[in-house]
Amino acid sequence: MTLKATLLASVLVLSPGALLAADMTIGFSQIGSESGWRAAETTVTRQEAESRGIELKFADAQQKQENQIKAIRGFIAQGVDAILLAPVVATGWDEVLEEAKDAEIPVVLLDRTVDAPEDLYLTAVTSDLVHEGRVAGEWLAKEMAGEDCRIVELQGTTGSSPAIDRKKGFEEGIAGQDNLEIVRSQTGDFTRAQGKVVMESFLKAEGGDTICALYAHNDDMAVGAIQAIKEAGLKPGEDIKIVAIDAVPDAHLAIANGEMNATIELTPNMAGPALDALEAYLANGTEPAKWIQTESKLYTAADDNQAVYEEKKNLGY
Ligand code: AHR
Repeated sequence: MTLKATLLASVLVLSPGALLAADMTIGFSQIGSESGWRAAETTVTRQEAESRGIELKFADAQQKQENQIKAIRGFIAQGVDAILLAPVVATGWDEVLEEAKDAEIPVVLLDRTVDAPEDLYLTAVTSDLVHEGRVAGEWLAKEMAGEDCRIVELQGTTGSSPAIDRKKGFEEGIAGQDNLEIVRSQTGDFTRAQGKVVMESFLKAEGGDTICALYAHNDDMAVGAIQAIKEAGLKPGEDIKIVAIDAVPDAHLAIANGEMNATIELTPNMAGPALDALEAYLANGTEPAKWIQTESKLYTAADDNQAVYEEKKNLGY
């Protein structure tokens, strides 16, 4: 009997139906690769699975919910032991999650939440998305210290939980500050290319010198917007203050160069806590908390962003 078989046999004696990580096959329905942060999450998930000996079946949905639903049905048909789902939008999941539940396949949500009954998934590993937006709003309110400021907002993918919650949080963060006003708000779909295009339209519609700050729901859109601001002959970070979310290496570099002012970190390591929870659940039925919250750290020019950039630049962003 091999060592692996011996270990498996001993676990089965202790707990019928128990599974070791090395015997698990997990399906991962990823949204796509819209941002540097998302690329890093994919890299980390593959690494986490590999280091535990888990077989990971990866499906890239190219930003489409219907592709994610197809992928989940495929994973169910293949009889995977569990499913990781980063849901592109918040609604429309009930039916396929019911199907996974009927097949007794636990589903763990990564980085975004869904509007579905809680019993349809095992746990959600996410940041507090509302809190991230609130931190951005409070940072800007403090930075402006009562000065009038017309803000433009680049929203994430329409209907996604981060776009909904980060907008709500930011509005809470600036609530009661009569000097701050959001004058334009539009989706840039979490991509650099759209961030640039939409920022160009904001600059054209408002006139660059009337815009005081940009709040972007992720760094990639902010980096695209920085390009648009420069091309309009303005200085990003000075003429237009910029706060965003993710803390990708390029945002740290932009802050180090004075072209961006603040970012709130979202760890790309959602898979670590998710796989810990799944391993315990599949080994002995340990139920995880319904929400496993990751940390959100604010970075500003007061931090050594050049050093953080060096640390992060080869991590798969
Ligand atoms: O759900 C997390 C968000 O999705 C990240 O902030 C953004 O970059 C990504 O695409």
